[in-house]
Amino acid sequence: MFESLKPVAIDPILGLMMAFKADERAEKIDLGVGVYQDDRGRTPVMASVKEAESRLMVVENTKAYQGMAGDPDYNQRMLDLLFGSDHSILSSGRVKSIQAPGGSGALRVGAEVIRRARPDAMLWVGVPTWPNHIPLLGSAGFNIREYPYYDIESRQVNVEAMMETLRQVPAGDMVLLHGCCHNPTGADLTPEQWDAIADLALERGFVPFIDTAYQGLGDGLDQDAYGMRMMAERLPELVIASSCSKNFGLYRERTGSITFIAETSERADVVVTQAMSTARSLYSMPPAHGALLVSMVLGDEALRNQWQMELEEVRQRIVSMRQLLCGSLKDNAAGVDFSHIEKQKGMFSFLGITTPQLERLRNEFGIYIVSSTRINLAGVNSNNVGYLTDALQSVLE
Ligand code: LMR
Repeated sequence: MFESLKPVAIDPILGLMMAFKADERAEKIDLGVGVYQDDRGRTPVMASVKEAESRLMVVENTKAYQGMAGDPDYNQRMLDLLFGSDHSILSSGRVKSIQAPGGSGALRVGAEVIRRARPDAMLWVGVPTWPNHIPLLGSAGFNIREYPYYDIESRQVNVEAMMETLRQVPAGDMVLLHGCCHNPTGADLTPEQWDAIADLALERGFVPFIDTAYQGLGDGLDQDAYGMRMMAERLPELVIASSCSKNFGLYRERTGSITFIAETSERADVVVTQAMSTARSLYSMPPAHGALLVSMVLGDEALRNQWQMELEEVRQRIVSMRQLLCGSLKDNAAGVDFSHIEKQKGMFSFLGITTPQLERLRNEFGIYIVSSTRINLAGVNSNNVGYLTDALQSVLE
């Protein structure tokens, strides 16, 4: 039967990651996949996570099944992290969350539950967005529509065009938003813009579906949660997919959550049964290890403080790499303005160079960048910034 199958192009980000690994040039630079690197280009396990792991080795006394919702302790601690422990939504009974296999698993469970609730809802996705959003959410059956998000020319959010399209979104549709650290552009919504989208959601009757994978990497854990916390206060319904891949460095452990806010606590109780039945039909239960670590870190004051300090170091290193690269590219031969890089948030920015320039960077210099020209700022370090700037200069000339 397999003779009917045609090969499928490999995912652009994960394909690039594999090509980088296979490249034998010592000077190669990975600005592709969204994985944190320290100043020596390594992606270490966070010390707080490592400590939790060694404690878990001692105290873990079973590997028995946990159930479709994963670890209840993790689910509660993730809600506290997303909303802040004194948010009114937490005592309302209107919010429910289940553990999911990474942010991608969370998105898929969220999509399936939405489709069960409202099969005709369309999903409005900003342009550009994370390249896997459309395949992942489209494969759940969503009919996808687009709204303009980023303006290549001005290198910032195209607020007017975005709002104009969102004003046309019919009641009952879903609008996908990035919680913070927009992937791939690094151009985030301001609090005022979040407020304006919430006003529109109330006026039009659409429901935001927030994907938040970088809480703590933009301006800080609380600041990065502004949009979802405000929407949780103001909107009757909300869906949030969250990930611990980046802020806990748990990439391969596949640790995430899907959170639903319903209009009443009775409805939230029903929604969570739908989420669990969705999980059962897709993968039965989420992997336990990463969530047990997160729960242990968040539940222990000393470990939590240590984790917050480590996360803050990650955040600050990315900010300083933005400044370093910007400063170094300031007087580039072609006069291209890269100052947007310094103003943007999280791991990514668009470089805004041409495809032939991007290909030359990879072929001649071993510098790997996603085809949209998205760069991962964490791939820049004090040793490679000179080489990177010189290489960029020569392809820009
Ligand atoms: C990225 O955008 O590079 C990461 O989220 C990794 C992925 O799965 O694409």
